Amino acid sequence: MAKEMVELDDSLFVGRGSKRICYIHPHDETKCIKLDLDRKHRHTAKEIRYYKRYSRQGILVDMIAPYHGRMKTNSGVGYVFGLARDFDGKISRSVTYYLKTSEDEKLLNDLFAGMACLKEYMIRHGITVTLLEAHNMVFQISHHGNGKVILIDGIGNNQLLPMSFFLNSHARKVVRRKWSNFEKAMMRRFSCDQKVYRIFMRLHEMVI
Ligand SMILES: Nc1ncnc2c1ncn2[C@@H]1O[C@H](COP(=O)(O)OP(=O)(O)O)[C@@H](O)[C@H]1O
Ligand SMILES: [Mg+2]
Repeated sequence: MAKEMVELDDSLFVGRGSKRICYIHPHDETKCIKLDLDRKHRHTAKEIRYYKRYSRQGILVDMIAPYHGRMKTNSGVGYVFGLARDFDGKISRSVTYYLKTSEDEKLLNDLFAGMACLKEYMIRHGITVTLLEAHNMVFQISHHGNGKVILIDGIGNNQLLPMSFFLNSHARKVVRRKWSNFEKAMMRRFSCDQKVYRIFMRLHEMVI
C-alpha cells in the first residue's frame, strides 16, 4: 500500500452503491478511490482476489475497469480503480441511465454492441460476476460518437465452490447463466419500451 495519505471530500464524490462509495482520486483524475461502507464485510478485498487472478492470466482488458492497488485515505483504506471518462472528460454514465433516457436509435445500437462485446469476452474467458446489473456497467462515449461498455463492479463469484476448483469450463457456464438471467430481467423491466426490450432480446439470442 502506498505510504502517502490522500484526503477525500464531497467535491470528489462520484457515486454510491449499496456497498461502496466512490471518489475521484485527488491526484489522478483518470482514477477513482472506492471505500467499503461496511468495513467488516471486506467486500472489495474479495473482489480484488479475482482482479489479481485475471490479471495474472493476462485476460483483463479495457472493458473492465482496472485495479491499481490500495491507498490510505482520511476515511480509511481505499481501493484505486480506473475511472471511466468520456472523450470530453465527463465521468461516463451508467448503462441504466442511457436505457432510461435515450430515444436515439444509434446510441441504443452502440449500447447493444458494447454489451455484446463485454458478454462475448466474459464468456470466452470465464470472467465471473456475483451479480450482473446495468448500473454496474458504464457507457464510455468516444470521439466518433460510438462507445464502449465497461464493467465497474461485481467481479467475483458467489458460488459455493472455492476459486481454486473453479475450472474455466464451469466458469463459462456460470457467466452464460448470469447473462441469461440479466437479459430476462431486463426484458421484463423494459417490456413497455420496445427499443430497449429489443436490445436485450438480441443479446439473449446471441450464440457464444
Ligand atoms: N470505474 C468507474 N468509472 C465510473 N464511475 C464509477 C466507477 N466505479 C464506480 N463508479 C460510480 O460509483 C457508483 C458506486 O460504485 P460501485 O463500485 O458500483 O459501488 P457498489 O459496489 O456499492 O455498487 C457506481 O454506480 C458508479 O456510478
Ligand atoms: Mg455497484
